Amino acid sequence: MRALTNDMFASRLHTGCAAKRDMIMRTNTAPTIRLKDYAPPAYTISTVDLDVVLDATNTKVRSTLEIQRGETTPKGQPLMLDGDELALVSVSINGTILDPANYHATPSRLELTNVPETTPFTIHIETCVAPATNTKLMGLYQSSGVFCTQCEAEGFRRITYFLDRPDVLSTYTVRIEAQRDEWPVLLSNGNPVKAGDLADNRHFAIWHDPHPKPCYLFALVGGRLDVLSDTFTTASNRSVALNIYTEPGKAPLAAHAMDSLKRSMVWDEENYGCEYDLDIFNIVAVSDFNMGAMENKGLNIFNDKYVLADPEIATDEDYENIEAIIAHEYFHNWTGNRITCRDWFQLCLKEGLTVYRDQEFSADQRSRVVQRIRSVRDLTTHQFVEDGGPLAHPVRPGAYKEINNFYTATVYRKGAELVRMIATLVGPEKYREGTDLYLSRHDGDAAVVEDFITCFEEVSGDDLSQFMRWYDQAGTPRVEVREIWDAARGELTLNMRQSVPPTPSQKAKKLVPIPIRFGFLDRDGTAVTAKTTSPSVSGDLIILRRRETTVRFTGFSRRPVASLLRGFSAPVHMALSEPSDARLLRARHDDDLYNRWEALQGLAHQAMQTCYDAASGSGDVDRDITDAFVTAALDDNLEPAYRALVLTLPSEQAVAQQIGTDVDPDRVHAAHHAFEHALGAALGETALSRISALRDDDTGTPGATEAGNRALKNALLALVAAADVAGARAQLSDQFETAQTMTDRLATLKQIVRIHGGSSVADHALKQFHERHRNNPLVVNQWFAVQATIAGAEGLARMRALVEHPDFSFENPNRVRGLLTTFATGNFTGFHREDGSGYEFFADQITTLDGINPQVAARILTAMNNWRIFEPARRTRAKDALERIAGKSGLSADVQEIVDRSLA
Ligand code: TRP
Ligand code: ZN
Repeated sequence: MRALTNDMFASRLHTGCAAKRDMIMRTNTAPTIRLKDYAPPAYTISTVDLDVVLDATNTKVRSTLEIQRGETTPKGQPLMLDGDELALVSVSINGTILDPANYHATPSRLELTNVPETTPFTIHIETCVAPATNTKLMGLYQSSGVFCTQCEAEGFRRITYFLDRPDVLSTYTVRIEAQRDEWPVLLSNGNPVKAGDLADNRHFAIWHDPHPKPCYLFALVGGRLDVLSDTFTTASNRSVALNIYTEPGKAPLAAHAMDSLKRSMVWDEENYGCEYDLDIFNIVAVSDFNMGAMENKGLNIFNDKYVLADPEIATDEDYENIEAIIAHEYFHNWTGNRITCRDWFQLCLKEGLTVYRDQEFSADQRSRVVQRIRSVRDLTTHQFVEDGGPLAHPVRPGAYKEINNFYTATVYRKGAELVRMIATLVGPEKYREGTDLYLSRHDGDAAVVEDFITCFEEVSGDDLSQFMRWYDQAGTPRVEVREIWDAARGELTLNMRQSVPPTPSQKAKKLVPIPIRFGFLDRDGTAVTAKTTSPSVSGDLIILRRRETTVRFTGFSRRPVASLLRGFSAPVHMALSEPSDARLLRARHDDDLYNRWEALQGLAHQAMQTCYDAASGSGDVDRDITDAFVTAALDDNLEPAYRALVLTLPSEQAVAQQIGTDVDPDRVHAAHHAFEHALGAALGETALSRISALRDDDTGTPGATEAGNRALKNALLALVAAADVAGARAQLSDQFETAQTMTDRLATLKQIVRIHGGSSVADHALKQFHERHRNNPLVVNQWFAVQATIAGAEGLARMRALVEHPDFSFENPNRVRGLLTTFATGNFTGFHREDGSGYEFFADQITTLDGINPQVAARILTAMNNWRIFEPARRTRAKDALERIAGKSGLSADVQEIVDRSLA
């Protein structure tokens, strides 16, 4: 095993700088930070001059800060700077080295007790750090030898002592010095000022960022990198140099990212009036990264999974993700950087808004309904689960221990849904007026959520005070709808009740405004319009504001079918009491394609629930249901990408979530299999001929249309192969052998492994795949991930072997996620073993990882947040496993917080 054990890790820390780093394995005394305790900073920092001399184990950081006393701060009040595992070399004020009596330094704090009464004054601080042993990947670290930084949320304090909070905005000038041959590229935020050679084969570069920013947006890179360059001309005719840096030899793989960037820049000008504001925009792709990417001002740093692509190594899904994440980080330039957050409780102010923006960008670039389905599927499979379990928290939390744990589906995805609802409620014109106002009024500010909401109130005249509750209240609202049909009058009455279930530390809930987009279908499937005089209806929206809302619709000649929550107009659970054939009718005819997809998913859930309830866990599947699927799947009037989503059945995890209590995972698996089998059989040979046709037409190019065709083909193939339709499995292995894209090769490999488990057939395919791609780490991640899905006891045995594989490493987050997250979230029967062995294995891996990268360990552990939905035996075992983690000494604050909340 190449991975480090805790002891090896700890001993490595004593290389490099001499000073002691005593806080590595801190015990859990992390205090709770609360929104209500917010106070403005006592001092601010107007300018930062950094001088960084790069070295793997002994990087010298000299920081010169111009300090301003706050208006209400008493003269001479001590100045407290944040640190994290820092070693102080020296500190001076206004040029005088401080006497030890006048300061107190620990790895996590620098307290200056005797500061000048007149401001501004200048502090000069020298620290030294060891990037080579920084396995937390926060602060300054090395990825494949390249120096890079990650400062959000609190990583800057791992580089130098600072007021590490987002409401302290400063202008930065950065000088970087390094060995020229080893680290020829030296980058920081803003514009390049000067660069040159020094003696002893060394060189330097100076960067200046004219835009004041909080330190979480600081970035620095030094390394041997290749570059793909381009230019962009802004709407006001300024030329911007664009560069994407990659590891040597990989620059051509950044072409799709570059194209996505230019399209993002155009889109933001057209839709938000946002122009880029520096002469140069740099992106650097690194292979070791804790999250997707980071929006540092003028110097985005990316997980290379979200930059590098060509059809041989990247799937169509990768292409889509690259486009979305490039856009997301670029859009942060205005929503996040020009307007930042006052404190970390306001995280959704930048993240929710920016996710909404990237979702709309993707909708405009590709198919709107397909993008909407993907976003909703993401929301319901992750955020709804989070919101319904022990980790539930509001979009704007009121308290946290470790801020890294709040970069969640709730803050990002539900946060985006709240912005979407505002756009829905005020309409597109007022939405644009509102964002224009927000962007001009708060440019340069560290803002709060209320600042954003107020802009929409002002432009629309609406009162959004009730809407604010969406930000501060956890839990997914539930809307129960009852229909009353009056045949004599041709009237349909909808009675709707809202409620929000209690969540940890929030028992009583208030009512929220819920926009429900609606329409009606006639029995023959055509759309019908209705009349109403209800004040709760505006256009095609019913807006629920009270506990109970009743709306009467008139003008029907026979009973219609109501199509509600069209386009998923609010993030709620909706429970309908509709006639039993209504869902089928919507699944066949709903002219809102989102709702048609939703009805089909509902039918799949219904069929699987029936199988689950049958004693054996299988049972018969209603022919009407499979027919509805077959009809949609073969309807050439529907776009292929949409049909592929129709055929992508709810996961076992999603089915379990729907069942909700005392879930037996093995029965879920059997029910899922039974439905899949029935559907595959119903598709039969017709599907096979479609598959052949789609295959013949494929040119292997990555555009959205071709991607849609491949998705449809692979979805059909998965179903007919699962059902063992004659010829299907031969088709599957043939397609694996001859695949011309990673999309097809990986899709077929996954199905081969699904059908054949850990048998020699699967192993042969896996071996072939590994041999072909062994030199590409991103594809090797996929190779690990596919094996993590092998079902049952065999899967767990495979996992034990894979963590010992020479290519496995706890130090690379992508690899760890590929193996452990896939196992915990994508291997229902392997993870949820009845004897608890899956949980126990997982718990041990989390503990090991925690000693190396706590942030990633904590995030992966959240996969266990729904342990209470399972039957008693699993529940007990899951609890044991969580307690096993909790019982380890020296847990990080990150994992400690997640495990404590999961058990609470
Ligand atoms: N702000 C980043 C984004 O939206 C994500 C981010 C937050 C992050 N914290 C991080 C990335 C820590 C890496 C490490 O996209
Ligand atoms: Zn973001």
